[in-house]
Amino acid sequence: MNIIVTESYEEMSKKTADIFEREVRNNPSLVLGLATGSTPIGTYRELVRRHKEEELDFSSVRSFNLDEYIGLEPENTSSYTYYMYEQLFNHINIDKKNVRIPDGMTEDPVRYGEKYDQLIREAGGIDILLLGIGTNGHIAFMEPDEELSVDSGVVELTKQTIKDNSRFFESKKHVPTQAISMGMGSILRAKKIVMIVSGKVKAPIIGEILNNGRVTTKIPATFLLLHNDVTWICDKEAYSRVTI
Ligand code: GLP
Repeated sequence: MNIIVTESYEEMSKKTADIFEREVRNNPSLVLGLATGSTPIGTYRELVRRHKEEELDFSSVRSFNLDEYIGLEPENTSSYTYYMYEQLFNHINIDKKNVRIPDGMTEDPVRYGEKYDQLIREAGGIDILLLGIGTNGHIAFMEPDEELSVDSGVVELTKQTIKDNSRFFESKKHVPTQAISMGMGSILRAKKIVMIVSGKVKAPIIGEILNNGRVTTKIPATFLLLHNDVTWICDKEAYSRVTI
């Protein structure tokens, strides 16, 4: 496990973009796993800049997003599909047919999850996966529970996540209660994982995970402790409760 602590959100974003840039330049047909939320916005901004100013080429890159809300059309400004095009895909030269984001409008979300894992397998697996973390320790939309699904599929969002994510919606009432999420299997099969964490609000959960060194389904991100190539990039506020 590598841990990088940065002075600021900007430095965290640049260091993350450095890793992704290196991987894309080394392997132009890389398979990316991508996250949403507020944390990756700076990283995407930096990758867009490097594409525009430094010829970072995404033309053969393939990508799989972690999750999508059930019931949101891609055109809905709160959907993760809309977010990904706004923040990244519309501004780089990725081939749109190489972009995969779970379809929140699918008629059969259960079968859709199976199909999604199959597509990831057919692409050869994810080479490098970007992750953020929820305040309750969720990754993708794998929420704290008694058990976690290995396969991708439908998940029920917790009250905490609905509350945390309501800032992206008109009100809490508008936040969908279900999502399609990449399962823990596809997440942990990624060859390389980069977890980015920013801000005081994440300090308690990061402290709990890194100080305790224990794996529990009650904090899904603890499963990352079992992976052999994870880099945690935390700004100093997010890292402030770590004592190891
Ligand atoms: C959502 C996403 C996660 C993300 C989390 C944290 O719930 N499904 O993939 O990591 O939000 O978001 P933020 O970066 O806005 O704190």
